[in-house]
Amino acid sequence: MIEQILHLRKYKIKIVTLQSKNVMSEELFISTGIDKKEIYESLIPQLASLIDNETDLTANLANIAAALHQTFKWWWVGFYLVKNNELVLAPFQGPIACTRIKYGKGVCGTAWKNEKAQLVPDVQQFDGHIACSSSSVAEIVVPVLDKTNKVIGVLDVDSEHYNVLDDTDVYYLKIVSQLITNTL
Ligand code: SME
Repeated sequence: MIEQILHLRKYKIKIVTLQSKNVMSEELFISTGIDKKEIYESLIPQLASLIDNETDLTANLANIAAALHQTFKWWWVGFYLVKNNELVLAPFQGPIACTRIKYGKGVCGTAWKNEKAQLVPDVQQFDGHIACSSSSVAEIVVPVLDKTNKVIGVLDVDSEHYNVLDDTDVYYLKIVSQLITNTL
């Protein structure tokens, strides 16, 4: 957590730099580096800048899903939000998906229940995985918290490739989730 806060401080500096250069937040600069860390390091300040002055959660989730999809070309990336004790489909990019997920069910419901990110390198090995699409073979789900640390939803990433999603993605997707918390 401390490490993440330090990271966010660093990003804050980057955001100020970006704003002073008058970069339009509507234009996403996608790093061409092959190193995943580099791509995230370039993307995250832009995401922060994109949602910084906007308090509408739907708008922010929609832009984050779009930016992540545009950058990483994952099969599916998006959000589920907690509503009446269920996860309900929220802004996403990719094929149509399951609309509602119960507490503790699937990878999403497990991330919500355990309040912990789930890295699933092979969905066949995850007992109770909910297959919204047979093309998705690996998945990461990161909880999204409010400022009291209550889970308000999850960020879900699905890949149609094995060995693409890893701990680096988990690390940076948690920072993305923290950026959303900051706007609440
Ligand atoms: N596979 C998820 C369901 C959501 S979709 O992947 C978009 C799960 O097991 O919770």
